[in-house]
Amino acid sequence: MKMQDLNGKVAVVTGASSGIGEAAARLLVQEGVHVVLAARRRERLDVLAAELGSFATVVETDVSDRGQVQALFDLVKDRFGGLDLLFNNAGLGINAKFEDSDPDDWKKMIDVNLYGVLNCTQAAIPLLRGRAGAMICSVSSVGGRYGVENWSVYSATKFAVGGFHDALRKELGPERIRVSVIEPGAVWTEFGQNVSEAMKERRQQLEALTSENIAQAMIYAFAQPANVLVEEILLRPVLQVAP
Ligand SMILES: NC(=O)c1ccc[n+]([C@@H]2O[C@H](COP(=O)([O-])OP(=O)(O)OC[C@H]3O[C@@H](n4cnc5c(N)ncnc54)[C@H](OP(=O)(O)O)[C@@H]3O)[C@@H](O)[C@H]2O)c1
Repeated sequence: MKMQDLNGKVAVVTGASSGIGEAAARLLVQEGVHVVLAARRRERLDVLAAELGSFATVVETDVSDRGQVQALFDLVKDRFGGLDLLFNNAGLGINAKFEDSDPDDWKKMIDVNLYGVLNCTQAAIPLLRGRAGAMICSVSSVGGRYGVENWSVYSATKFAVGGFHDALRKELGPERIRVSVIEPGAVWTEFGQNVSEAMKERRQQLEALTSENIAQAMIYAFAQPANVLVEEILLRPVLQVAP
């Protein structure tokens, strides 16, 4: 089957300063895609951009801030005239038993994992319109399919992402904008605050995935012919038989 040639396409990657987003930016540039790197840690983005050269543009962005998100997409419009891929990857998880969890932490997760996705998606849609093979791809989690103990609010935010995409797909499908969700299990990244040593060891025992594994799944979906929608990819280490 003929895959799409990604050369010359334009992508926004949120959460590009580490982990899955950083790996995705690298793979996209290898395919000849111009990548706009968005996250809060400017210095990390600058180091990555120096490595990627003229194919990378840095825009320091807090995805929970609508003004900053609009400025990001205004820049994309001015510089590139449109957008082919929004990779909604920025996210955070704070581990706690729900009964003991801090409402300030609920808000932090909802602001980034849900409002961040809503802000970026709404600003991106006009730029994706009319571009063959355009795609919105968002990183949810196995926690967005199965509730995971001690990640209850995080799971709730990712379930919300799934529901949002299910509805959005019906709104944007007729316009040929593909709406895709990736649901990773355990991945080796900086992800997860308040994670106990025991949980870190479990990740090791599970032979957690690499960021590149997830980035490749995204590229697989993006590079399909423009009429092919890969709606959802759930991938996890084979040893991770439960969420
Ligand atoms: N690692 C796993 O096991 C796993 C499993 C399932 C799903 N996921 C999901 O995978 C995605 C990527 O996480 P990761 O594993 O690569 O972890 P990570 O290395 O901690 O990366 C998270 C990224 O999100 C960015 N971010 C956080 N808050 C942000 C904000 N307000 N505005 C903009 N960017 C923000 C961070 O950048 P700055 O701090 O520089 O802003 C960072 O680049 C997340 O959505 C996460 O929920 C991860």
